[in-house]
Amino acid sequence: MKRILAIMGSPRKNGNTHILLLKLLEAGKKVGSQGEMLFLGDLNIKECDGCHSCWKGNECSKNDDMNDIYKKIADSDVLVFGTPVYWYGPTGLMKLFLDRCVFFNCEENNKQIAGKSAVLVVPFEENTLETAKPLVDLFEKSFKYLNLNLIEQLLVPGVYKKGDVLKKKDAINRAIEIGTSIV
Ligand SMILES: Cc1cc2nc3c(=O)[nH]c(=O)nc-3n(C[C@H](O)[C@H](O)[C@H](O)COP(=O)(O)O)c2cc1C
Repeated sequence: MKRILAIMGSPRKNGNTHILLLKLLEAGKKVGSQGEMLFLGDLNIKECDGCHSCWKGNECSKNDDMNDIYKKIADSDVLVFGTPVYWYGPTGLMKLFLDRCVFFNCEENNKQIAGKSAVLVVPFEENTLETAKPLVDLFEKSFKYLNLNLIEQLLVPGVYKKGDVLKKKDAINRAIEIGTSIV
C-alpha cells in the first residue's frame, strides 16, 4: 500500500489545483493507497532563513508546522506537488514550502526521502504549455537535487476560474489515471 501526500499550494480551496488533487487521491484510495492532503494556506510555514541549522543535525530553527510535515514527508511514498502558475512560477505558499525542503538537502536528512516518487500538478490560465516551463524547470532541478523521481506531470492550460478544470475531462481523467497508477 502506497502512502500519497498531496501538497496543495493554491490559496484557493475548491479551485482547480484542489479539484485535481482530490480526484487523484480519491482514485488512489479506490486501488488501496492511503492519501492525505496538506493545505499549505492553513499551515504556519515561515520562510527559510538559510541558517543551515538543519544540516548540522539540529531541528529547524523555525518552530512551526514544518517540523511535523518533515515527518509526514519521510513517512510517505509519493509526494504530489500541486500549484497553479503564479507569474510563471509556483505560488508563494509553494515556494516557501520548497525552500523549507532544504532540510532534506544534507546527506543525513536526504536518506529520509531519496528515491521517493514525486508528481507535479499544475493548472494555469494561458493556453500554451510554454507558460509552465519555468515552473517545471524549477521543480525538475529541485527534485533532482533532492533525489526525488518525478514520475508524472499533469499540466492543465486554459483554466482560470474556480472549477474551470471540471470542464476539462481529459485533465480530470489524467488525474484519476495517475492516482490509480500509484499502487
Ligand atoms: C497572482 C496570480 C498570478 C497568476 N499568474 C499566472 C501566469 O503567469 N500565467 C497563467 O497562465 N496564469 C496565471 N494565473 C492564473 C492561475 O494560474 C489560474 O487562475 C489557476 O487556474 C488558479 O488555480 P487554482 O484555482 O487552483 O487557484 C495567476 C493567478 C494569480 C492569482
